[in-house]
Amino acid sequence: MHNAMVTHRRFLMPMLSVIGCALILSIMAVGVPSVMAAKKPMEKAFPSSEKCKRCHLRVFEEWEASAQSRSIVTAPFRMTLERYLAKADKNDKAMCFQCHAPHIAEYEELLPRFIKEVQSKDPHMDGVGCPQCHLIHSVDDKAHPPVPTYQLGKTIFGGYDKAAENLAHQSEKLGLFTDSQFCVTCHDSLPQTPQTVKDLPDWLGDWKASKAETSGKTCQSCHMPEAVDESANGEKIRKVANHSFPGRFGKVRADAVELDFSTKVNGKTSLVDVTIKSFVPHNLPLPHPGWSRVVVDLSIKGKNLKTVYNEQRFYQRVFGGADGKETVLDFEAKKVLQDTLLKPEETREESFTFPTPKDAPSMDVIVTLTYAPVHGPQDLLKAIEHDAPLGKKDRAFQAVQIAQKKTNVLLKKK
Ligand code: HEC
Ligand code: HEC
Ligand code: HEC
Ligand code: HEC
Ligand code: HEC
Repeated sequence: MHNAMVTHRRFLMPMLSVIGCALILSIMAVGVPSVMAAKKPMEKAFPSSEKCKRCHLRVFEEWEASAQSRSIVTAPFRMTLERYLAKADKNDKAMCFQCHAPHIAEYEELLPRFIKEVQSKDPHMDGVGCPQCHLIHSVDDKAHPPVPTYQLGKTIFGGYDKAAENLAHQSEKLGLFTDSQFCVTCHDSLPQTPQTVKDLPDWLGDWKASKAETSGKTCQSCHMPEAVDESANGEKIRKVANHSFPGRFGKVRADAVELDFSTKVNGKTSLVDVTIKSFVPHNLPLPHPGWSRVVVDLSIKGKNLKTVYNEQRFYQRVFGGADGKETVLDFEAKKVLQDTLLKPEETREESFTFPTPKDAPSMDVIVTLTYAPVHGPQDLLKAIEHDAPLGKKDRAFQAVQIAQKKTNVLLKKK
């Protein structure tokens, strides 16, 4: 029963071979078409996004700046993939690619090439490129996580009712492209394998019940914001969808949270009460990779603007491995040790107490909310630093500010 989950994923079909009759089924499903009709080479079925650039320059440039275009080229991905592959069961080695280069579903036999491309640091293939999304024909949302099915042909699927004709492809509208379910496929949880655990909670939390979702705001409404522009070079201007996928970086930030606080000075001790109101209709941060966390930082500056007090609290999901110890590698997780993620549209209060700065006429109170840089065991951090072309300057080592508020509080009257 445990394995039933695993076998939902197409390329894991051979797993079923344990059961005799299923073996025959899987040979028929996988083997026969490749004998009868030669399978298209991968670069024909999933052409490079560069090929779409010729006519979709705007979309291409937005996508190129997005995280999706880097899904198999970051140092943290290379280093965690390496650790995953070192221990993964033979039949599950493609797991990370299911979302980071989802066309693996159609080309399971090329797994060694996918791995080599990642290790090269300069892959020729895209991870989450244009065809990887626009050839998705349906999503089985009964499976967990949901499974996409590709239809490989001349037709490109999208959200337009009437796309102008062109020489490169046919176009077809699918409701799926304007539905959150399309995104949830890759954004809600790791697939189950013998290495991962069945009952770990999903990443997004109860997004379906959020005010945003129930009022008709899909993932796309916030993360592919609508604009008016050319969809293809030289075509008439119409409603388009931004493809830079703003998230940790980019513009959705402005509407992420409302940060507020009040300060009380009680003689030798002072108190800061912080309120963080999240407008995000899913967990913040999302707990994959396992080191993701948001930090609430309180800094007090006293005389000569010297920091006299600093305290940090973390919003994160802390995973425990097989040995019961903390791990930032979620694929090793056996349970959740702690969960302080900001839940969908939650309002969180934090109280800080600290010594009132001495001999200063006033103090600065600064509250900052940031996405924290990667953290974890030294050997992992060193490996990432060593592997990244920019070393310690890699994005992974940078904190990203979400919101900040500061004030100056008078301490004594002169
Ligand atoms: C085929 C799998 C897949 C689908 C479908 C998908 N994504 Fe992603 N997405 C990814 C991966 C993988 C990354 C992370 C890339 C990286 O940084 O390595 C990502 C990154 C992102 C990010 C940036 C996250 C950050 O930390 O800033 C946003 C935002 C995002 N996706 C939104 C969406 C939305 C909205 C949709 C639906 C229209 C969607 N995604 C559909 C796989 C997918
Ligand atoms: C179910 C889909 C899915 C699977 C399977 C998956 N990832 Fe991810 N991964 C994502 C998405 C989506 C993001 C972006 C997360 C965000 O910003 O919220 C991401 C982000 C990451 C990141 C941080 C961004 C970057 O590229 O530096 C790393 C590292 C990563 N994944 C490693 C892995 C590894 C290793 C595996 C296999 C053990 C794996 N992922 C399996 C969907 C997936
Ligand atoms: C993560 C999945 C994903 C990726 C990657 C992606 N798209 Fe899209 N694209 C979508 C979705 C979803 C829509 C519909 C959005 C809507 O209507 O709200 C869309 C809409 C479009 C549209 C019509 C609207 C517009 O903005 O012009 C075009 C054209 C398009 N995509 C081309 C591309 C090209 C070219 C690439 C690669 C450079 C690409 N897409 C990459 C998901 C994706
Ligand atoms: C020869 C030029 C050309 C090339 C190459 C091309 N397209 Fe298009 N595409 C168009 C035109 C023109 C439209 C119609 C735009 C409009 O209606 O405003 C279009 C529409 C689309 C749409 C919207 C379809 C819908 O029904 O929502 C998507 C998605 C899309 N293209 C994706 C791609 C992808 C992915 C590639 C690369 C594999 C690609 N295109 C290559 C010219 C091209
Ligand atoms: C009402 C707007 C809204 C909707 C709807 C929404 N998000 Fe977000 N999302 C946000 C905001 C705001 C952030 C935080 C951005 C920041 O502070 O940098 C965010 C962050 C993210 C991130 C990156 C940050 C992280 O913590 O890893 C991903 C990935 C993401 N959302 C995916 C999704 C998916 C998938 C859906 C649909 C189920 C969705 N979002 C629906 C507003 C929205």
